[in-house]
Amino acid sequence: MLEEGSIVDLGSFFKRFLNFFRNSIQLIKLPFLESFSTMYSYMRSKFFEKSAQKWLILSIKANFEGSLILLACQLIPLYGISNESIPYSYLLHDEHPVKPLLDALFSSSRIILNLDTLKEAGFTFSKPRKFTNLIVAKHPQIPGYIFKLYLDAQRFHKHKPEEHFWKLRINGAALIQHEIETHHLQAYLKVPRKWMYKLPKFPSPPEGYMDKQYILVEEDMDILSEKDNEKFWNSSLVSLEHLQAVFYVITRVGLSDCTKPDNIPFSKDGRIAFIDTQTHGRRVITKRMLPWLSPENQIFWKSLSHEYEVGILKN
Ligand SMILES: Nc1ncnc2c1ncn2[C@@H]1O[C@H](COP(=O)(O)OP(=O)(O)O)[C@@H](O)[C@H]1O
Ligand SMILES: [Mg+2]
Repeated sequence: MLEEGSIVDLGSFFKRFLNFFRNSIQLIKLPFLESFSTMYSYMRSKFFEKSAQKWLILSIKANFEGSLILLACQLIPLYGISNESIPYSYLLHDEHPVKPLLDALFSSSRIILNLDTLKEAGFTFSKPRKFTNLIVAKHPQIPGYIFKLYLDAQRFHKHKPEEHFWKLRINGAALIQHEIETHHLQAYLKVPRKWMYKLPKFPSPPEGYMDKQYILVEEDMDILSEKDNEKFWNSSLVSLEHLQAVFYVITRVGLSDCTKPDNIPFSKDGRIAFIDTQTHGRRVITKRMLPWLSPENQIFWKSLSHEYEVGILKN
């Protein structure tokens, strides 16, 4: 059976798609089924990233109107496990308003060489982050966006090229966006869109540096300051609807790092923003969130955790 939210390879997706219709609709005449394999070859060559091995089924719909069958399915490439080339949809395209600005900036000098060059180019940025060594940067000429990057002067984190982590973050954001949309949680939650920006080949770093090829561009979620965010999370202003929504997405996507306020900060628009999407598909220790909540909200969170644990035991 085909299920929204499941991960498939393209071949098996079409096979199951075909079987689904073979089994469920007796009325379909053979010519439709035969033409299906032609359609598959055509669609594959035309629309799908050949490089992506795994695909996430975002939505699948079929409407029957008399003898007419209207099919719609939305698949997104999942990428990040092996050394496949980077799918088109993961990259910041020329049509994106920020792309020309980044091209102009990054062609003028090797900005990501070290902290000094980053500063000279006008970026403001964090220190390398404690666990990821990541640098989070902003540029005054590019409001509304933030940049996550590793410098040429930095060693490869966990011996992996930076693109490995950008792909994980893009995949995580897509999974979260899917849950938000499917369960109509847009009033309470949001997640930034994320793209990989390929740095110009030139100017290149001098010999001896660990040449990086991509930076991650994200929508700025306009979040509260660290202090205000913690204070807000600890207050009774956090509604039960917010808690229920965030609990659902964290556990459903397996966001094991998202049980602390700095990874799920409140935005100034009142929504919770999932900004750290690198780790997903993990078992979540939900009670880690408890110390950050108000006493009343702790009671509610405990009840959600209880239901979740019972559900896991049942399965
Ligand atoms: N999209 C974003 N919008 C606004 N602020 C962000 C965004 N992404 C990250 N930040 C800021 O940068 C910090 C570190 O980002 P995060 O992705 O959590 O890195 P790490 O994986 O190193 O913890 C966040 O706590 C937040 O303050
Ligand atoms: Mg974080």
